[in-house]
Amino acid sequence: MAETNEGSPAAAAELTGIAAVTGIAGLTEADRAEALALLRAVTEADGVSPVSESGRLALMHGRAEESHVIRREAGKLVGYLYLGPPDEDQNRAAELCVAPPARRRGIGRSLIEAALAGTAGALRVWAHGSLPGAEQFAARLGFAAIRELRLMEAPLTGGSASVLTAPQPPEGVEISTFRPGEDEDAWLALNARAFAHHPEQGSWTLDDLAEREAEPWFDPAGFFLARSAEGLIGFHWTKVHPAGAYGPDRVGEIYVLGVDPQAGHRGLGRLLALVGLQHLAQSGLGNVILYVDGDNTAAVRLYQSLGFGNRAVDTMYERRGVKA
Ligand SMILES: CC(C)(COP(=O)(O)OP(=O)(O)OC[C@H]1O[C@@H](n2cnc3c(N)ncnc32)[C@H](O)[C@@H]1OP(=O)(O)O)[C@@H](O)C(=O)NCCC(=O)NCCS
Repeated sequence: MAETNEGSPAAAAELTGIAAVTGIAGLTEADRAEALALLRAVTEADGVSPVSESGRLALMHGRAEESHVIRREAGKLVGYLYLGPPDEDQNRAAELCVAPPARRRGIGRSLIEAALAGTAGALRVWAHGSLPGAEQFAARLGFAAIRELRLMEAPLTGGSASVLTAPQPPEGVEISTFRPGEDEDAWLALNARAFAHHPEQGSWTLDDLAEREAEPWFDPAGFFLARSAEGLIGFHWTKVHPAGAYGPDRVGEIYVLGVDPQAGHRGLGRLLALVGLQHLAQSGLGNVILYVDGDNTAAVRLYQSLGFGNRAVDTMYERRGVKA
C-alpha cells in the first residue's frame, strides 16, 4: 500500500513564489502566456519540448481535474509544472521545466513538492528526451524509471523507397479519409477498442478529438480510415510538424495508427502505415517520426521493418507519495 499525500497542490502554496491551482481558470492570461513562452524557451535551449502536445493543449484549453503549478522569482515566471488528472488508482502524471538560467536553485524540487502534495497515489513525471539533467534530478528526488516512449524516425526519400508504395487493400476493405462532423463517434469507438490498454490514447473523448481538429496542423486529407462491411476497422492519422519542431525542415509523423483487435493480424496495420507514409512522401516531406511505447513489441517491429530507427527516448519516472 502506497503512502499518500492527501490534499490539493495549493497546500504547497506556502513555498515561496509558488502558486498551485486546479483548472486553468485559476491562472491569469499573463500566467498562461508566460508559461507558454517558458515552454518555447526551454524547447529552444534543450532541443526538446518539456511538455507533450496534450500538456500544451491543457494549458490552452483546460482539462477536468488538472492542476498547474507556477513558480515566480522577482515577478518572472521561471518554473512550470502541469499535473494531469488522477487515474482510477489516484496516480497523476506531471511534466515540468525550469528556465535554464534559474536551474540548480531548488525550483524543480519545489514544483515536485507541490505536485506530491496534490497527489493521493503515485506521482509520475515525464522526462522528454531523457536529458542527463532530468535523469539525475529524478534519481535525486527518489523517482524510479517505469516506462519508456521511443521517438523513432525514418527517411521518406532515398533511404527507404519501400515505404513509398502502398499495396491494394484486401477484398472488402476500403480506404477513405476522415470526414469532420461525421466520423467522430465511430472513430472514438474504434480508438477506444484499438487502445483499450493504453494509459492515455484509449480514453480520448470528443473534446480531445475536437481540440485536435481545431489545431492549425489538422488536415483530414492525411487522416486515413479503413472500412469494411462491419464499419471502421483501422485508421492512420498523420501529422505534419513545421520547420524547427524536429529539425530544420518540416517533418511528418505517424500520429496515431490503430487497428480494431478483431480485425488484427491481417496486414492492415502495415497497409495503413504505408498509405499514410505515401501521403507524407507525396506532400514533399523528407523525414517522418513517431512515438511508440518501448514495450509495444509488435508496433516497434512493424516500424523497424518499415525502416524506422531510434532517435530518442522519453522516460516516465514514478515516485510513491512521500515528500521529496
Ligand atoms: C530537470 C529540471 C526540471 C530540474 O530543475 P532545477 O530547478 O534545475 O532542479 P533543482 O535545483 O530543484 O535540483 C534538485 C536536485 O536535482 C539534481 N539535479 C538537477 N539538475 C541536475 C543536473 N543538470 N545535473 C545533475 N544533477 C541535477 C541535483 O541533485 C539537485 O540538487 P543540488 O543542486 O543541490 O545538487 C530542469 O533541468 C529542466 O527544466 N529540464 C528540462 C525539462 C525536463 O527534463 N523535465 C523533466 C524532469 S524529470
